[in-house]
Amino acid sequence: MCGIIGRVGSDDAIDTLLTGLENLEYRGYDSAGVAVQNGSGIKVQKRSGKVSELKETIDSRLADGQVGIGHTRWSTHGPPTDENAHPHTDSTTDVAVVHNGIIENYAELRSCLTARGHEFTSDTDTEVIPHLIQHYLDSGWDNETAFRMAISELEGSYAVAAMLSGEHVLYAARKGSPLVVGVDEGTDGYFIASDVPAFLEFTDTVTYLEDGDVVVVRPNGVEITDLEGRDVSRDLETVDWDPEQAGKGSFDHYMLKEIFEQPTSLTQTIEGRIGRSASEITLEDFPPGSFTDVDRVLFVACGTSYHAGVYGALALNQAGVHAQALLANEYSVAAPPVDGRTLVVAVTQSGETADTLGALRRANEAGARTVTVTNVVGSTAVREADESLLIRAGPEIGVAATKTFSSQAVVLTLLGQRIAADVTGDPSADLDSFLPSLSNLPDHVEYVLEESDAERIARRYRESPSYFFIGRGLGYPVALEGALKFKEITYEHAEGFASGELKHGPLALVTPETPVFAVFTGEEDEQTLKNAAEAGTRGAPIVAVCPDGHPALETADAHLEIPDLDPTLAGLVANVQLQLVSYYAADALGRPIDKPRNLAKSVTVE
Ligand code: G6P
Repeated sequence: MCGIIGRVGSDDAIDTLLTGLENLEYRGYDSAGVAVQNGSGIKVQKRSGKVSELKETIDSRLADGQVGIGHTRWSTHGPPTDENAHPHTDSTTDVAVVHNGIIENYAELRSCLTARGHEFTSDTDTEVIPHLIQHYLDSGWDNETAFRMAISELEGSYAVAAMLSGEHVLYAARKGSPLVVGVDEGTDGYFIASDVPAFLEFTDTVTYLEDGDVVVVRPNGVEITDLEGRDVSRDLETVDWDPEQAGKGSFDHYMLKEIFEQPTSLTQTIEGRIGRSASEITLEDFPPGSFTDVDRVLFVACGTSYHAGVYGALALNQAGVHAQALLANEYSVAAPPVDGRTLVVAVTQSGETADTLGALRRANEAGARTVTVTNVVGSTAVREADESLLIRAGPEIGVAATKTFSSQAVVLTLLGQRIAADVTGDPSADLDSFLPSLSNLPDHVEYVLEESDAERIARRYRESPSYFFIGRGLGYPVALEGALKFKEITYEHAEGFASGELKHGPLALVTPETPVFAVFTGEEDEQTLKNAAEAGTRGAPIVAVCPDGHPALETADAHLEIPDLDPTLAGLVANVQLQLVSYYAADALGRPIDKPRNLAKSVTVE
């Protein structure tokens, strides 16, 4: 999975391209490169490492040229070397291409092209594309036709942008990987990118492309057609993300900024969905009665979104509805039987995770009703599901998901209430107490952010070789998420367990060197307390995540305070404390928090 930017404008492209790449680095940062078109042909500069390293070495050859493409890579085919960095070119550098996705028939294409005399210099699947385009140019086709013919030969998934020598034009095409066009008919011109934040500081007017679309971007406009060249019409939309929101502001890292944004992002998530009197739920396209034909709910997701799915499934089970969360990548091997009464909810902040899209497609084919819960308007998951619900968390740039998890869990809780009321025929008796608590959630999160002792606790235990997180009921997905966050950004070993499971094996690993973070949500806390004590008597330091005055504090070694809340919401506030612990532990260890090694924000390959 990678980031793509392309730009056609009236002034030099290089600075805009580099800014776009910096904005896209959350999509991958193994290598970066740019290609710029000027009077003397296409100039390419690329290297392994981050965009900042590319920037330091940019030379004056790229200073002029109003058309350009850029790429930041998360490696799939071939290691992150200079040679494998994009853009890739044909042997004459008359064609430059950037690509996100996987060309499944690249080996076959490469051997045909090699047999025709083309020489390859990288291990990537992408390099076949400029060579294919060159092959059609050599056969006498014009630039646009050569591009279309090359694209028609590709199997697999792709978002491709290409530039050909001698003209101020960009060509792009998508199938299975996201691509969006940005339009500023004033000064900044036209953009193509894998995601809106790439160019959000230049324009908020966008067109989301669909699979099969081919775009030709010229200085005077954008033309969108299908692969055969027939016009297709796509809407121009205005994105209501504020570019400030997408920047780091005064924070050292995006992750910290996004953790601190949660009072605002949760307010946006809840806005308009809880009636003024906090006694009813309004869920856009899902009025009461929307789910009377549902008898089972499956959540499919990956990573942090999977933990939100577990949260949603447990909440539904507690409300008397059959529900289960499944890892999207496992869904293909062992999908439970589904029918028209099964609701499959794909949870994905990006809406582009290939594993989740794969599960969504299988559910569609099997005849289930599908809903996507996502942060990204116009994403593939939104287009492919029957219905969708936005979490409205605003742009999230840090690779480690934070505010999107909170917003996903809140949306899944609201959706769960609606489903449960329809399926059981019993509008939740708890709604009267739950909804006022939910409308105050942003204030509770604000309180935790202001008062948290997480930094001191993270520093106190930072030499530990291993960290455990335990919770029961809705505290369980919070424990899983706490551990995932911790390992993602600190690179230290961390595991999350259902607290009752600790004694069935993991306790063997507990020593005085393994801090145990115990999440108390108010559901059977006495059980979690016993499980924490089992670790405590083996010498493990216990960090209790609980309200002030909680019995756990009599034996705990440290305390991360949360307000005394409805158990459905307590875990979400506890999660904010754990996000802060991970952040400060990673900071104390000097880790590159926003770009953890080997990871990417959105993984568009299976
Ligand atoms: C990647 C990211 C995770 C994320 C997962 C699912 O693996 O590194 O942080 O949770 O993808 O992403 P999605 O966009 O589907 O929520």
